[in-house]
Amino acid sequence: MTDLFSKFDPLIQQRETLLETGLTDPFNLVMERVESPTVAICNGKRTILLGTYNYMGMTFDPDVVAAGKKALDEFGSGTTGSRVLNGTYQGHRECEAALRDFYAMDHAMVFSTGYQANLGVISTIAGKEDYIVLDIDSHASIYDGCALGNAQIVPFRHNDIEALEKRLKRIPEGAGKLVVLEGVYSMLGDIAPLREMVAVSKANGAMVLVDEAHSMGFIGENGRGVAEAQGVIDDVDFIIGTFSKSVGTVGGFCVSNHPKFEILRLVCRPYVFTASLPPSVVATAATSIRKLMDSADKRAHLWENSKRLHAGLRQLGFTLGTGEPQSAIIAVIMPNLEKGAAMWEALLNEGLYVNLARPPATPAGMTLLRCSLCALHTEEQVGEILGMFAAAGRATGCIS
Ligand SMILES: Cc1ncc(COP(=O)(O)O)c(C=O)c1O
Repeated sequence: MTDLFSKFDPLIQQRETLLETGLTDPFNLVMERVESPTVAICNGKRTILLGTYNYMGMTFDPDVVAAGKKALDEFGSGTTGSRVLNGTYQGHRECEAALRDFYAMDHAMVFSTGYQANLGVISTIAGKEDYIVLDIDSHASIYDGCALGNAQIVPFRHNDIEALEKRLKRIPEGAGKLVVLEGVYSMLGDIAPLREMVAVSKANGAMVLVDEAHSMGFIGENGRGVAEAQGVIDDVDFIIGTFSKSVGTVGGFCVSNHPKFEILRLVCRPYVFTASLPPSVVATAATSIRKLMDSADKRAHLWENSKRLHAGLRQLGFTLGTGEPQSAIIAVIMPNLEKGAAMWEALLNEGLYVNLARPPATPAGMTLLRCSLCALHTEEQVGEILGMFAAAGRATGCIS
């Protein structure tokens, strides 16, 4: 018998070597108590959270929590069924109405996760004879959606407008073309040049799908994302998003103005063949989405936080993923996994949680300490965070 697990041996070995040094496992941390969107208890210690996707701090919003409790009491803990059978409750409809209002679009379809939204929409609309042109740094859910649909996959260099255009021009005349982009790329926190990329895609007869997972609620005048901020939202055919970041719960969605969009509810397998979200989740999501429409002050404060942290880290001597802050994600580039893990642990000991990210999730084999800011981080907390980076950086030799 061939042990099907033998392919994982190199990874098992790498983990063992790392943990033998006595390091805390960076991928096995437990949040023992969560006090707020910015503070938790980890290993019995008060820890500032700088590695969540809780960009707008909605997880403890009293209206959001109350809506979830009410739905739990009135509709029970789960739907036990697919959206196309018994799993569409009034709450799912209300959640889709909130999304239509938020994006000012005609159609909204809620999935059980953002992963499934990409999986479902991409695989359903781009089939065997079609072409998907995508940024090489796309999220795993985008790649998996491509694989599920059997389309021809044409990757292009990250954020390279000319490369996108060249790839589009090589596709046979008359073939179906879908360009897949992200608003914010979550590893380095950089944004896409959507204005140019959407124009090039349209000029070459392609439909455009933009995953705005990391920009919803924060970027753009109304928080609709990078496509809104760059003035091209009306030219984007499909926006994919998630409830697991700014919205503060779990779930995914696609919004669109395409006149035939609703047919997807019958043909999209990751929508049909899975249970719908629990009533409490769609109630919290709908309440959160409606509150995000009116959150300009929080958006402004989050930008302040992002600028303050970026400038402070740069001043300390860290190498960052972007020259200026472009989103709520600030990536600190580590020289290698060992140093990254040591720095991650030193920060945790100081009382700060960040994400340790490594290949294959990261581009170009990089090890990153990914910091994601929250609109509820105070100016004082950002100061505290910088103090912790200074101490941990010196202790591990990452900065002098
Ligand atoms: C760009 C992007 N798209 C989709 C997803 C999937 O979202 P969800 O957590 O709702 O499955 C993520 C999650 O990390 C993401 O970063």
